[in-house]
Amino acid sequence: MKGVAEAPGKVIVSGEHFVVHGAEAVAAAIERKVRAEATRSDRLLLSAPVRAPLALGPARKVVESLYASMGAEPRVSISVSSTLAPGAGLGSSAAAMVAVAGAASALEGWGLEGMRLAEAGLVGERLVHGNPSGIDTAASAMGGVIAFRRGEPPRALRLGSPLTLLVVYSGARRSTGALIKRVGEERASHPSLFGGLCEGASMVSGLCEGALGDGDARALGLLMTYSHAVLGRVGASTAALDGLVDLCLSLGCLGAKLTGAGGGGSVLAVPPPGRAAAEGVVSKLRRRGYDAFLTRVPAAGARAWRE
Ligand code: MEV
Repeated sequence: MKGVAEAPGKVIVSGEHFVVHGAEAVAAAIERKVRAEATRSDRLLLSAPVRAPLALGPARKVVESLYASMGAEPRVSISVSSTLAPGAGLGSSAAAMVAVAGAASALEGWGLEGMRLAEAGLVGERLVHGNPSGIDTAASAMGGVIAFRRGEPPRALRLGSPLTLLVVYSGARRSTGALIKRVGEERASHPSLFGGLCEGASMVSGLCEGALGDGDARALGLLMTYSHAVLGRVGASTAALDGLVDLCLSLGCLGAKLTGAGGGGSVLAVPPPGRAAAEGVVSKLRRRGYDAFLTRVPAAGARAWRE
């Protein structure tokens, strides 16, 4: 018998970085995911192929603390595989932590789901990133599209119509923890300006929520392009990401921004309407050497089961 779990990556539509400092953000699960399989063992073992986004030390802590909270010994072997590139700003480490917790929970018959899985995974994310807001594990565990404010239960958002989003990986890996620190320094240098930007980010998240509820891709795109400019102001962008945003817009996208921590990683865009036009943009980006893909929103959240 084994416990299996799959947990999706995520994109942040609005409010990354500012969410660490109390602003509201909007995030969506994507169709690429991490899979974990747990079997019985005489001791705790974790394994992953080199490309999988599994930080073994933090993942070990996730499993140890989950078993300790259940009053059990972690006699389990967990292997992880992934279709998410690590370090691409797509929540790969959060998805890995949630999947590891889900697989162990399924094996043991604990039935953890939703925010209980997110909280189990956050134990590892704190070790990987230092001061995460918790949005990545919440988006992966809950799925769909969520509005998230630190310390409050996330709200599942209703979409006026399903949406196709475009993700373009810049090819530059980066550390979320280092970027959270860099933006935190920006806050320390300009506290009142940063406070205003946090309020602005919450307002933009509210407007994104409205655009998603109305199925208004054009309004969503404009808000995302605006967000990118503000994220650049606090040190989260790079010349390569700015160029990639401009490229997406020049290819007809309705809006584009960095997503996640920035400093490299990925750009999220609203593709032009219609499947053929969206696929045309993907082909053009791939011809230029980018790993670009379309993802449907809402996408499923973490799932765990026994086999
Ligand atoms: C990373 O996906 C999002 C950040 O806002 C960090 C966090 O909220 O934990 C940059």
